[in-house]
Amino acid sequence: MQIFYEAKLLQQTMMNSAQEICLVPTMGALHDGHLALIHEARRMVGENGCVAVSLFVNPMQFDRKEDLDHYPRPVEKDLEACQNAKVDVVFVPTPDEMYAKNHSIVIAENALSQALCGASRPGHFAGVCTVVMKLFQIFQCHSAIFGEKDFQQLAIIRRMVRDLNLPVKIIEHATIREVDGLAMSSRNARLSAEHRADAPRIWKALTEAKDAYQLGERNVDSLMKRAMSILEQSPYLRIDYLSLVDEENLSLVETIADSSGNFVLAFAGFYGSVRLIDHVTLSAQATEM
Ligand code: PAF
Repeated sequence: MQIFYEAKLLQQTMMNSAQEICLVPTMGALHDGHLALIHEARRMVGENGCVAVSLFVNPMQFDRKEDLDHYPRPVEKDLEACQNAKVDVVFVPTPDEMYAKNHSIVIAENALSQALCGASRPGHFAGVCTVVMKLFQIFQCHSAIFGEKDFQQLAIIRRMVRDLNLPVKIIEHATIREVDGLAMSSRNARLSAEHRADAPRIWKALTEAKDAYQLGERNVDSLMKRAMSILEQSPYLRIDYLSLVDEENLSLVETIADSSGNFVLAFAGFYGSVRLIDHVTLSAQATEM
């Protein structure tokens, strides 16, 4: 496994490579969800291809300094996990390596990022788009894999690739969950024991609404109330949003018509200062979990 700290050297190496390159962009603190993305990358490019991972806690996408300061950074452990997962190339830049002191170009998406996490976290998706664009350039990757848990991020990255004609295939990977249903996230490690024990109610609330939807409930208020009643029983959870949105354009859905497409019931909330997100897709034929 090759470890790079310098963007320029990595870019030159990748430009001279004839291999098919698949990138797994991460902010480190790797868990089984990331490992699933890495294994999918290997499946994509085969034994002769190049599986590349970035470990970079991107300051530009954090709206709260507290969150950035406390984001876990177990670099040695992450490198060991990459080695064990047979990753070929890892990039571990510092913020100074990624951003020139007077950097002044930002990639901003102006439609899908207005809703949900974009509304609660000003500048977050501009930070994501900018760093992902830079990583695509540095790695010269043919494809990149993202977790479906961050479905708004995924939709925005797909939009960026479409609108800027980027030659990168975007692959999504299903959310990996703990046995009690909690979506895996690097932030879970920061939950206190009480909060960790309470957190599976997020998935329980979302699946309650999904089950009702699958049984024919089409009243948006009733669906929301079912999920809300489970969320609100928590003595700890501070809800940021619970929103039903259109899967395509992420606009708020107030009524569900029989002919409509898929919807996403999306949640974000805080346990103390730890922000968690999750969602379910509601589709007439849904079997996906
Ligand atoms: O999903 C993440 O971990 C980050 O937003 C990403 C895509 C690595 C960009 O920093």
